[in-house]
Amino acid sequence: REFGRFGPLIGAIDEGTSNVKFLVFAANTSEVLTYHQLPLKRFSPRDGWVEQDALEILAAVTECIEVTVDNLRKLDINPEDLVGVGITNQRETSIVWNSVTGQPLYSAIVWLDVRTSKIVDDLTKTRGVQSVNAVVQTSGLPLSTYFSSVKFKWLLDNVTAVKEAVRTGECMAGTVDSWLIWNLTGGSHGGIHATDVTNASRTQLMSLKSLQWDKGLLRFFDIPIKILPKIRSSAEIYGYIAKGSLLGVPISGCLGDQQAALVGQGCMSFGQVKCTFGTGCFLLYNTGDSIVHSDSGLLTTVAYKLGPNSPPVYALEGSVAIAGDTLRWLQDGLEILNDVQESENQAAEVTDEDEGSICFVPAFNGLYSPYWRKDARGVMCGISGMTRREHIVRAALEAVCQQTWAVAAAMEASCAPLRRLLADGGMAQNSTLMQMQADLLGIPVIRPLMMESTALGAAIVAGRAMRVWPASTPFPPADTFMPSISAEERDIRRVRWEEALNRSLGWAKD
Ligand code: G3P
Repeated sequence: REFGRFGPLIGAIDEGTSNVKFLVFAANTSEVLTYHQLPLKRFSPRDGWVEQDALEILAAVTECIEVTVDNLRKLDINPEDLVGVGITNQRETSIVWNSVTGQPLYSAIVWLDVRTSKIVDDLTKTRGVQSVNAVVQTSGLPLSTYFSSVKFKWLLDNVTAVKEAVRTGECMAGTVDSWLIWNLTGGSHGGIHATDVTNASRTQLMSLKSLQWDKGLLRFFDIPIKILPKIRSSAEIYGYIAKGSLLGVPISGCLGDQQAALVGQGCMSFGQVKCTFGTGCFLLYNTGDSIVHSDSGLLTTVAYKLGPNSPPVYALEGSVAIAGDTLRWLQDGLEILNDVQESENQAAEVTDEDEGSICFVPAFNGLYSPYWRKDARGVMCGISGMTRREHIVRAALEAVCQQTWAVAAAMEASCAPLRRLLADGGMAQNSTLMQMQADLLGIPVIRPLMMESTALGAAIVAGRAMRVWPASTPFPPADTFMPSISAEERDIRRVRWEEALNRSLGWAKD
């Protein structure tokens, strides 16, 4: 059919931990034509618990879509040129709802939540030998509070409304993508209960080989298969939007947000690596058709599957729990930043050698890759009377870079040395952080000028499924940050960081 001046358009719902966005891309140029963004609230009813309101997430998505479509009209662009929508989302966050009323049965339990610590300990012991690797061969993941398996188990064991809905056959469970797909395609009036392989690979209930829910894993975590969505590829039509301005538009792509950034950065060949600096920080290394297991604390996960008949592509992942969230804490918790954007200049005002410089390990909810220590908690080392807030801000940025280095080192041990790092995500706007990252890794860090790589990845898979995203569509141009410190200086800073990190271990005795 005939399209307007930008050709066919693809929408991307980017539902992150901190914000929801809806963006419209031109499929022929990958240009963002317009978007709308809303922040998301987080609740912490108890220490270590992190929840969100599933209805707020849904309302924010709907509002972002409506405002963006309105923007299109104001720009004299026909919303009917939108031929498909992709979804990308914070992974592992778990929601259970009633299929008849459409109401959530509990708050969304966010990936960062550590209420399942005891469940993890108990499961770790069930096989006689104490090991977090009990299900790693099948799922690619260690036992940890991070994944949906233990969150669903907690919900099934502790929430009466969930138990009752399971008994009456009205319980549906899923990650945020499933919640959105089901609601947008009609909810209790015929909504589709589906997920994609990348999100399913983060539940710890899917076999990496069969790409289906695994009977052994379901038995291990005691999760009934009937509450789970159907697993589909990342690029196909899941269903059609059932109301609002995009009525009838197909949802044709779905990827967990870190996998989406891998696609959006064009890391579609073996050995390519990206790092997304968001609420957390996540490095993914494309391992092609090989399921590579790491001895160095990395996760094995599905990177994408570009259609029902396409083969799966896998990745090794290093997940750092707290990245942008450190700055958010400096802003909202300590109130020493008015705005996280200020961190770029503040950190640049001091050097690491200044008197007053400190080391900060923001292990708020334990440490993920490559350490996997849920008993770690935050520490600041080296505080003196000379320490000012600029030193704390700088140390917060260094913490992100040092943890990224540790993950990169684990990747080198499992695969091959990294030659460059493709960076994206909200926190990558911070040029002080990017330079520090290049310095501490000792390799170039490349940052696209259009940093919405996550949304772009979702648009690419949705556009491919609709056959409107040509292979020739260019990726955005990029800036490069080159390393500027000596190997000796890098080593000194690393040793200091590791000393601080060791002090954070074992603080939380649970
Ligand atoms: O695994 C959690 C991850 O998907 C969250 O991503 O962008 O919200 O930090 P983000």
